[in-house]
Amino acid sequence: MRFVLLAAALVAAPALAQKPAKAPAAPHPGAVVYQNICQACHMANAAGGEGAGKIPALAKNGALEAAGYPIMVVTGGKNGMPWFRGSLTDSQIADVINYVRSNFGNKYKDKVTPAMIAEMGLPAPKGGFREQ
Ligand code: HEC
Repeated sequence: MRFVLLAAALVAAPALAQKPAKAPAAPHPGAVVYQNICQACHMANAAGGEGAGKIPALAKNGALEAAGYPIMVVTGGKNGMPWFRGSLTDSQIADVINYVRSNFGNKYKDKVTPAMIAEMGLPAPKGGFREQ
């Protein structure tokens, strides 16, 4: 038995040594925010869906072309979409918007910056959901 384990270890050792020593690429900072918050409603593949209400797809979404629109919706909320001003930092909001605008079939090249969030973002509404 001891011999069998030793033989197995000898066979396995070179295989392990041959694994490429490449570190996995760091995830997009916006991906972390997306997976923790947005995907609960918009789904992992950003296809949206029907639940308590209609959740729009963010995948291949032409409404994301003008960066000002997602900035307003994500900072200030819209109907069933909660606002994130106050719960996410301006950097996190910029990161997640950049992530969504450059993934899921969206290929918008211009980048949103935290300064743009500070400048163009809506304040969190005082109470209840924002009607728009
Ligand atoms: C509680 C569920 C919920 C969560 C969490 C959520 N959303 Fe939404 N989102 C919605 C709903 C519902 C709408 C549709 C609002 C409307 O137009 O009435 C929406 C709309 C949007 C839109 C506008 C899409 C369009 O075509 O008009 C964007 C952009 C968006 N969400 C991004 C995000 C991002 C980024 C996050 C994470 C930070 C997020 N959402 C988290 C429910 C959610």
